[in-house]
Amino acid sequence: MPFKLVAMLLAGGALAASAGESIQTPSVFAPVSTPADEIRDLAWLVIGITGAIFVVVEALLLVAILRYRRRRDDDGREPAQVYASGPIEMAWTIVPVIIVVVLFLVTTRSIATLQKDSAPPGWLQVTLVGHQWWWEFRYPEYGITTANELHVPTSGPGEGRPTFLTLHSADVIHSFWIPQLAGKTDLVPNRENHMWIEPREPGLFVGQCAEYCGTQHANMLIRVIAHPPEEFEAWVQSQQRDAVDDPEAHAGRDRFLSTACVNCHRVAGTRANGSFGPDLTHLMSRATIGAGVLANDRENLIAWVEDPDHFKPGALMPAMGLSDPDVERVVDYLVTLQ
Ligand code: CUA
Repeated sequence: MPFKLVAMLLAGGALAASAGESIQTPSVFAPVSTPADEIRDLAWLVIGITGAIFVVVEALLLVAILRYRRRRDDDGREPAQVYASGPIEMAWTIVPVIIVVVLFLVTTRSIATLQKDSAPPGWLQVTLVGHQWWWEFRYPEYGITTANELHVPTSGPGEGRPTFLTLHSADVIHSFWIPQLAGKTDLVPNRENHMWIEPREPGLFVGQCAEYCGTQHANMLIRVIAHPPEEFEAWVQSQQRDAVDDPEAHAGRDRFLSTACVNCHRVAGTRANGSFGPDLTHLMSRATIGAGVLANDRENLIAWVEDPDHFKPGALMPAMGLSDPDVERVVDYLVTLQ
């Protein structure tokens, strides 16, 4: 776990530096969302109770070791033995039972808060599909599909629109985890899971796949961007538009549309209509490519299109074997997809 967090920080830090944005440490102890608050509070309570038990048990152990240790003048006889003390038996039965009941009740209360089987009225609904090794985000109510960067509005208890997530997987088990927003929830093939988030501050929150899902599991990063409600509406409108059709990029567009790219990628308003890979309609509205492995700029796009496997060994996107001028032309088109 520490390794994963360190890797996450390094990845987040590297991208932050390239994109010039600040990233908060993805710590469960710095929640900014109601489900994450609940988990943090429960964690501290459990740590407090179990910590107190640890201290008491270790203290008794130390006393026993020091006070009843073998001494030089021991005569070798056992001390007087005490059997079946009613009050002591009662105490060490009843006290643990009470502790367990308390932990059971507070955990049950937290689970009741965290689990919702359907979206309450008015909530934003997003469907997540886990793929090897990227995230697909669909907004059914707006007809938007995007990848790896989840945009949601800010909200607070009783105000704004919290986001209700429906989780699916296209292949193997993945797990969606943004420590500051909510606990992890698995994306399981042939099963529908749910979770919800309610970021109360605008900003960028990072996380990553938390269930080993193959060679590129560690490069299945998540970025959640929380916007004030008006800004979120503007983002929705920009995403609902068809792809920009820049006449200057027609050569690249035609080359793109003549390759097998179109079998896996969609660009709304063109005949590229694949759904196996990320939707590219608004590719340049995303800060990263390859689910967070590279900053999304022209130079990196060229390197990525030339050889995805170099950055993500095992990536299911093949190197298309285009000539250098063709790669440049295709990328000249891709960078117009704002
Ligand atoms: Cu997806 Cu690990």
